[in-house]
Amino acid sequence: MEFMNVKIRQSTLAVGIVIAIACSLSGCNDSNTTSSSTQDPEAYKKAAEDAVVKMTVDEKLNIVMAPGIDFAKTNTLGVVSANPVTNLKSDTLGTVGYINGVLNDKLNIPAVKLADGPAGLRINYSRPGDSGSYYATAWPIGSLLASSWDAALVEKVGRAIGEELKEYGIDIILAPGMNIQRDPLNGRNFEYYSEDPLLSGKIGAAMVKGIQANNVGATIKHFVANNSETNSHFVNAIVTPRALREIYLRGFEIAVEEAQPWVIMSSFNKVNGIYTNERSDLLTDILRNEWGFKGFVTSDWFAGTPETTAYKQLLAGNDLIEPGGNLEALKSSFTNGDITEQQLNTNVVRILTQVFKTPSYKNYAFSNQPDLNSHATLARRAAAESMVLLKNQNAVLPLAKNQLLASFGITQINTIKGGTGSGEVNNQKTVTIAEGLSSQFTTNIALETLYGDYFTNNKVFHPGYYGIGSFTSCEEPDIDVSVIETAVQSSDVAVITLGRIAGEGADRTNSRGDYLLTETELKLIENVSAIFHEQGKSVVVVLNVSGVMDTAEWADKVDAILLAYLPGQEAGNAIADVLSGAVNPAGKLTQTIPVNYADVPSSSTFTGVDTDGDGKPDDVYYNDDIYVGYRYYQSFDKPVAYSFGYGLSYTTFSYTDASMMSSTIKKGEGGNISLSVTVTNTGNISGREVVQVYINAPEAKLKKPTIELKAFAKTAELRPGSSEKVVFNIPTKTLASYDESNNQWIIESGEYRVYISPSSDIANIEPITFSVPEEVTVSQTTPEAMALPHGVSAADFVTIIR
Ligand code: BGC
Repeated sequence: MEFMNVKIRQSTLAVGIVIAIACSLSGCNDSNTTSSSTQDPEAYKKAAEDAVVKMTVDEKLNIVMAPGIDFAKTNTLGVVSANPVTNLKSDTLGTVGYINGVLNDKLNIPAVKLADGPAGLRINYSRPGDSGSYYATAWPIGSLLASSWDAALVEKVGRAIGEELKEYGIDIILAPGMNIQRDPLNGRNFEYYSEDPLLSGKIGAAMVKGIQANNVGATIKHFVANNSETNSHFVNAIVTPRALREIYLRGFEIAVEEAQPWVIMSSFNKVNGIYTNERSDLLTDILRNEWGFKGFVTSDWFAGTPETTAYKQLLAGNDLIEPGGNLEALKSSFTNGDITEQQLNTNVVRILTQVFKTPSYKNYAFSNQPDLNSHATLARRAAAESMVLLKNQNAVLPLAKNQLLASFGITQINTIKGGTGSGEVNNQKTVTIAEGLSSQFTTNIALETLYGDYFTNNKVFHPGYYGIGSFTSCEEPDIDVSVIETAVQSSDVAVITLGRIAGEGADRTNSRGDYLLTETELKLIENVSAIFHEQGKSVVVVLNVSGVMDTAEWADKVDAILLAYLPGQEAGNAIADVLSGAVNPAGKLTQTIPVNYADVPSSSTFTGVDTDGDGKPDDVYYNDDIYVGYRYYQSFDKPVAYSFGYGLSYTTFSYTDASMMSSTIKKGEGGNISLSVTVTNTGNISGREVVQVYINAPEAKLKKPTIELKAFAKTAELRPGSSEKVVFNIPTKTLASYDESNNQWIIESGEYRVYISPSSDIANIEPITFSVPEEVTVSQTTPEAMALPHGVSAADFVTIIR
């Protein structure tokens, strides 16, 4: 049998190579070649190697250098290329980058189209002279999706996003975003998943798998340490190699190993003095040689040094320069000998290996009709299942259908579906919170009219930049006490919605109206709570926000708080589903909510220091080192408002029989520990529970955070009284810490404590222990990779030390 299997595999591989080579010769116009035989990565690589032989140097340079953007012509209608896109077979308005094709007497390789982004496909919804519409689904933002802790759900969303790409003629999406949420004020945190690398990696891998199941490509970004927006194109992140390995690189590593994204996008910033897209230790030694990445690396748009030195990116392993443009400068670099043809071949082969997988290459006849209806249903479910219930005093939620709602807050009208910038989506309609609530409850019409009219008269449209980054704001109206006193007479409960938008290009601030509530918002909470509580009626706050904000100032005044983040186009429906109990919330925090912003370990160094006096930060010192998020709060006993991993349900769960099933820790990457726990629904309604495994490791020579997340799982929907045995297999590699002085991942000897817990608050959890008798070397890494700049040592800037 074994022999038969081997034979079959060999012959399918051979067929795959033949088909792929045939395609490379003629330009493959047969959409049937998506059979599994052509999915073999080696066959695509072989075809790319064969193609490169038939290309001139100019054709190769034209592949690595994208055609550029003509800003004079680019407007809200979409990006217009500066130069003709070579061999573009069809265009999709809203495409943000191309890879030039090749057309000569031996090759017919079509151009490939790239579009954003992390909350769904960003293309233009209309086209001049065309009555059709090209809407895409606006999904929940990354931070919300990740709060599901549900890889299967995220993979489903990925599949739907991939289908939209494919049916709109896009080959590669510039998503998911996987940077670590180092500081709550990073303006792009909404695109990202978590402060924890394991969670980011697993959720990112699920998203990539889902997207790529459609034979279109995913791009994990921004590689690496792109953790603030202020001067983001030039800022220099100064980070220890250990923090890079354990925190900032780790999620990307997991996504590469588990899902092999077609593309990885290097970031704008420098790390330890050098632009990421010029670091061969990052893009070649670590990414390819250590992790086995098989795709290609693209630059971020307009990233890095002047155009005249673009060749440095190619040398480092940044294969594609986006959006490209100055082909002549690159040609001069080639003529000057800055870059060899052999190097170019390497870059081109990597790109073409992926190009040959694309729908454009396979001449896929896209329909322009993705299944938007079923995607809307999934977007609603994904949003509702991911929201985090932070507070639910006296079980005021879920609300009974017959309760009369008084809905306060301008955000119920100006509901925020997502962030701005490249992470936005052109969807057809966003269901507002007012609409969602009134479709499932009886709401107070007078209040809704008041807010609706106020919005009409006071809204401000911010146009953004070339049509990107536009949004509408409206300040919170100052609601008179008499209005609340009237409303309370005909209502059973108050719902107050607070909103915060954020976007690419700017960080948030620790100020009123941003991280902190405005005086008007505080007054609204104060007055509504006082008046409703006086009559024995409850107050619920819904946070329609891009990221973490202050709760310490007001949380004790209200009965329930639902963190809805930016839920995408089905916002109002999904929020109403949770408030009504149609969906039992099962999301948990993927980032800690601190008591005060000043408690955040990076708050003293965010957004960096201005060293040249131009008013912009130049260097960001990662003073928090490996103590990011809960790793800090737990290790230093710092109280938090809401812990990482925390989230309530309308039911309760018990954890019993936590035990270690087996342990086979051994040298190298093999082996694992296996654990199990029984989770029982001890409440009255069905629900799902996110179960987390934290490990406290001994400190032999390395200092360690008190606990680190090493595994997680989400139960199936458990009926009241029913149980599920949850099993965790934790690979040896996941237990390792990075020993910078020896360039090694090691598992230190000593006693390990395992906490199987509903959140990172493990205070009341009885640990399971196991011992590692002697130090285990898991893997050796590239010496000196990502070293600190000359003359800088960790002692100079790391302020958080155990
Ligand atoms: C962003 C990327 C995005 C690209 C193309 C850049 O400004 O940083 O995330 O994919 O633009 O829109």
